[in-house]
Amino acid sequence: MKKIMVITSGGDAPGMNAAIRGVLREASFNDIQVYAAYEGYKGLAEGNILPLRNHDIAGTLQLGGTILGTARYPQFQEKPYMTKAYRNLQESEIEALIVIGGNGSLSGAHDLHTAFGLPVVGVPASIDNDLSGTDMAIGVDTALNTIVYNVDKIRDTAASHGRIFVIEVMGRDCGYLALNSAISCGAITALIPELQDEFSPDAFGNLVHKAFQRSKKHAIVIKAEGFNRHSDAALKDMLTAYLQERGMERVSMRFTNLGHIQRGGAPTSFDRLLASKLGIHAVRNLLAGKSDIMVGLVKNTITSCPLTEIGKGKRDRVLALYEEYMHHEIMMSKKLTPSS
Ligand code: F6P
Repeated sequence: MKKIMVITSGGDAPGMNAAIRGVLREASFNDIQVYAAYEGYKGLAEGNILPLRNHDIAGTLQLGGTILGTARYPQFQEKPYMTKAYRNLQESEIEALIVIGGNGSLSGAHDLHTAFGLPVVGVPASIDNDLSGTDMAIGVDTALNTIVYNVDKIRDTAASHGRIFVIEVMGRDCGYLALNSAISCGAITALIPELQDEFSPDAFGNLVHKAFQRSKKHAIVIKAEGFNRHSDAALKDMLTAYLQERGMERVSMRFTNLGHIQRGGAPTSFDRLLASKLGIHAVRNLLAGKSDIMVGLVKNTITSCPLTEIGKGKRDRVLALYEEYMHHEIMMSKKLTPSS
């Protein structure tokens, strides 16, 4: 193998640069020239391709975002765009592709492999942690740390004013970030998309009410962006009504959305390590003749799984975590409901 390409695609994630560096280092060591397409699949389809050299990645390991740029590029699902991308790879005599990105981006790699037989390896990078086949994707740890850091700040105001704060975090349709940040922040509960069909305004109200009765003077609730069964306004109305009926007229409530700060910033050491290892292993897998796979970290070991598997079982994974570590809150709400 003489020439390979690396792209970053979809949403950026802290640690992507460390993964690019890992790819380049391992490839150079094996006398392979690395090329990059800028802005992911968009650059690939438009022929925005350049060789990547060691000096391009110097001093980038500690930077958030991606030095290769990235883009949301839904057109890539259409055959003509995919064909253009493949032709561009062929013209530059590039033999394999490493895609660093989330669910959609790695599915794009699988499609390229299926359509043209191109060897591809995916590297999981998405703060959502919604991919099976890896316990952690690149960027998740940094995002969690950012959430915890900022929730701690909001807690100062919550405590000073005796308020309830409902804080929205990212994650698309996956509750992993919300659940794990709720555990790390001592939140009263996490509202996650995986359980929104079971959401009961009364159980939620009861949970908050009993917490205040217990001794709490303020409360934090983490809400995943994918929890959209009720709007913020509706949640506020429900909770206010529930608490007012129980004599808590004066508790004030605020809703805060942490937004894109969760995707930025210098990667943590965990993300730098994970990304470096996965980048290196992506190249090794290609050299070993493997393709149509994603490298990942499972039980602290670098592994790989077929790209066809990465979308499976993610809901169960979050639910298992919820049952194991949020059970105090669930049981308490069940135990203390008036009907129980
Ligand atoms: O997939 C990462 C993510 O940050 C999601 O959590 C969020 O829903 C989405 O990307 C936001 O995408 P964009 O930056 O394109 O608005």
